[in-house]
Amino acid sequence: NEIKIFSPATVANVSCGFDVLGFCLDTIGDEMIIRKTNKKGIHITKIEGYDLPFEAEKNVAGVSALAMLEDANPDFGFELEIYKNIKPGSGVGSSSASAVGSVFGMNELLGKPYNKTQLTNFAMKGEALASQCEHADNIAPAIFGGFTLVKSVAPLEVLQLPTPKDLFAVIIHPQIEIKTSESRAILPKQIALQDAITQWSNVGSLVHALHTNDYELLSRSLTDVVVEPHRSQLIPHFKDVRKAALENGALGCGISGSGPSIFSLCYGNSTAQKVAQAIKNVYSKTEIPFEVYVSEI
Ligand code: HSE
Repeated sequence: NEIKIFSPATVANVSCGFDVLGFCLDTIGDEMIIRKTNKKGIHITKIEGYDLPFEAEKNVAGVSALAMLEDANPDFGFELEIYKNIKPGSGVGSSSASAVGSVFGMNELLGKPYNKTQLTNFAMKGEALASQCEHADNIAPAIFGGFTLVKSVAPLEVLQLPTPKDLFAVIIHPQIEIKTSESRAILPKQIALQDAITQWSNVGSLVHALHTNDYELLSRSLTDVVVEPHRSQLIPHFKDVRKAALENGALGCGISGSGPSIFSLCYGNSTAQKVAQAIKNVYSKTEIPFEVYVSEI
């Protein structure tokens, strides 16, 4: 009647795949306890870590839970305890982790009536509360694991991509806040055809690299000529972090989701640790507080 779940942080976009590509971090995430109760409805009884609303209708985990509850219509309700480790607004899918955690746990307690795509659909309702737009590139990897590609949002179609062995992500989170809505607002509505060509060739080659364990091709696919030139201006020392990451052996480095976090993809833990240290050295010279962590994918 009760389940404790881990809901992972995720990196959306993965440089070239704005709004479609994402991957899941193995070891960073929120925890939640979900419990069946006789009292109908969704009741958030505990929130630790960050100050978030207890009313289900105003809480991301609550909204996705309500969407599932309305569809399942059981003669009982659920209590949620939320232990938030991922800072909201950090760029590693904090709201998605909340939205996914509640529906994943409820589905288990209901006897798994819903598949992963249906869970993604419910979680998108919660995500929409946080970001005012429907994108699933953080939710899909949190539910499916590894790398995912959101082929279409309506109707929802998620492709789970293979994850080559020994891939690690280094994340630096500069402690500044960038709202997803703001970092979407600065993007151009139209892009040059030549940039579009570069971008879709990189998405294609990145997917091919994942299927063929081709780390060198993966590395050459991790560029973004559409979004990063605009958003990187919002992230202090982005270019220095990228330079340090690449000089120390990272396969690629880009903005995680809508920022301010920056991710670097690395082959092997020892390279990841070296990259993490080099990135720490960059930010240690600045006044901005930050956190760096390494996770396998
Ligand atoms: N794809 C979204 C964006 C992710 O970059 O705006 C937001 O977390």
